[in-house]
Amino acid sequence: MQLSTKHLLGIKQLTAADISLILSTATQFKEVLQRPVKKVPSLRDVTIVNLFYENSTRTRISFELAEKRLGADTINFSASGSSVSKGETLLDTVNNILSMKVDMVVMRHSASGAPHFLSKHIPAAIINAGDGINEHPTQALLDAFSIQEKTGSLAGKKIVLVGDIMHSRVALSNIYLLNKMGAEVMVAGPPTLIPKYIEDALHVKVEYDIKKALAWCDVANVLRIQLERQNQVLFSSLREYNLAYGVSRKLLDGLKKEIVIMHPGPINRGVEIDSDVADGNQSIILQQVENGVAVRMASLYLLAGNKPD
Ligand code: CP
Repeated sequence: MQLSTKHLLGIKQLTAADISLILSTATQFKEVLQRPVKKVPSLRDVTIVNLFYENSTRTRISFELAEKRLGADTINFSASGSSVSKGETLLDTVNNILSMKVDMVVMRHSASGAPHFLSKHIPAAIINAGDGINEHPTQALLDAFSIQEKTGSLAGKKIVLVGDIMHSRVALSNIYLLNKMGAEVMVAGPPTLIPKYIEDALHVKVEYDIKKALAWCDVANVLRIQLERQNQVLFSSLREYNLAYGVSRKLLDGLKKEIVIMHPGPINRGVEIDSDVADGNQSIILQQVENGVAVRMASLYLLAGNKPD
C-alpha cells in the first residue's frame, strides 16, 4: 500500500486510508523499538535534512531518532547560527542544501504555508514539522496513535481540545484527523481563544465551560497558551486563566468517569494544566512522546517509498 501524497504537508491533504496506513505502519515500528536492537536498514542511503527555523525539543529529537533508527543519513540545520542571518532566502538555503544530494526535508517554520511553498519549488519530499498556526501533522498522527493505543479505537471516541485553539497548529491537525477517522470533536476554552464560526467551518462542538467539556469527553488534549503568537491581550492573566480553564485534580475528581489526559508539550505547569494532573495516572503525555518516534519512522518510511516526480 502507498500514501496518496508525495509530501506530508498537513492532515488536510491526507485521506482516511493514508492515516490508517501511517498508524498501522507505526504499530510495526513500535514493535521494532521494543527490541534490543532498535534499528532497521529501511532508509539506508537516504539523506534527510532537519530544517528548523523555529525552536523545538520533542519534534526535532524524535525526527532525528526516527531517521537514525531507519538507518538514514541525517543533517541538522537551525536558522540560528546559519547564513539566514546574512539575508539568505528560504529557497536559496534549501537549494544549497539539496545540491549536496539530500532526498528529504523535515521542516519547521514560524510562517504558515512555508513547507507548501517549498514543495512547489524543490524536488525532495517534504514533511511539515509545524508551520506557524497552520498544521503539525505528525503531532496529530502521534496523538491519534496514542488514543488508539490507550482506548482501542478512534471512531466514536469523544475528544476535547482544551485551551488556545486560535493559535494552535496542533488543534487544527487534530480536528482534521479526528473528523476523518470518525471521532467526535469538541473545542473548549475562553471565547477569545476559539475562532468564530469554527463550529460550522470545521464540524466541531464548542464549549466555554471547562467542567461541561470534561464531563462530555473520553479524552482531553490540553493545549499550551501560545503567548509568542498572541499580539493582543486575549485573557486577563495566566493566574486567572488557570483558575477558569486550567485542568486541575479537583476538576477530574468531580467527574463521574476517568478520562485520558494528553498534552503535546511543552507544558506550562500551573497554567493550562496542574502538575498533579500532568504527572498523574490518567496522563499519557510521555507515551505520546514515545509514540512520536514510531509515527515519524512510519511517515518517513512511507514517503521515501513514494518519491516526488
Ligand atoms: N509538541 C511539539 O511540537 O513540541 P516541540 O515544539 O518541543 O517540538
